[in-house]
Amino acid sequence: MKRVPEPELMDDPDQARAYAEGDFDQANSLFVETFASRFPDFKRGRVLDLGCGPADIPIRLARLFGQLHVVAVDGAPSMIALADGAIARAGMADRIHTVRWRIGQEPAPAAVLEPFDGVISNSLLHHLDDPGALWRMIAEHAKGGAPVLVMDLRRPSSQDAARGIVEQYSGNEPHILKRDFYHSLLAAYREEEVREQLVEAGQSHFTVEQISDRHLAAYGRV
Ligand SMILES: C[S@@+](CC[C@H](N)C(=O)[O-])C[C@H]1O[C@@H](n2cnc3c(N)ncnc32)[C@H](O)[C@@H]1O
Repeated sequence: MKRVPEPELMDDPDQARAYAEGDFDQANSLFVETFASRFPDFKRGRVLDLGCGPADIPIRLARLFGQLHVVAVDGAPSMIALADGAIARAGMADRIHTVRWRIGQEPAPAAVLEPFDGVISNSLLHHLDDPGALWRMIAEHAKGGAPVLVMDLRRPSSQDAARGIVEQYSGNEPHILKRDFYHSLLAAYREEEVREQLVEAGQSHFTVEQISDRHLAAYGRV
């Protein structure tokens, strides 16, 4: 099935709220487990989260690693507001800082100029008009040797298969979330496309793996 792009930012307040209230426990646990298992020596430092959304993943990581500091960036003010609320409720405001930044379109803000010890990103790649922007940002903002994990949806073979995945995993979620999930599946990349992006970005040593029936992961050290 041919890829169908979707809009970059999730800045509609209803859309952002539906996403923040959705149940992403399985996917977000998978992200944290994948990071911890692929980089077992990584325990502390400054991490950059690109396209943080409501910040559930940085909160989970900061809970797991007591000496972790995260700069969590997103281009959508609605998402940043939801992330700030979640971070405050989790009591993590001293270790997770949000920055509104539309990557690939705006110059890097001061908060991300010092290179990071690790870079993470979940479910951003498929939103980007230019996927190369994500890999360039990673190369620019990670220290040499820093661990990187990018996880995203994996495009199914057909629209019917995408509908089946939406019903299987989000059958009881609100319509707006199911609609976005379906569009995200159609906009997602496949392993071979991500490998091509990595070759172009000079990171062909990264591993690209299917890690669930609907997710892929690309990871390695810069
Ligand atoms: C599907 S959400 C994923 C959020 C979060 N990483 C998670 O796993 O819950 C994608 C996020 O990327 C943000 N985004 C899309 N394009 C962006 C860009 N060019 N720069 C920064 N953020 C962007 C959207 O606003 C949205 O919050």
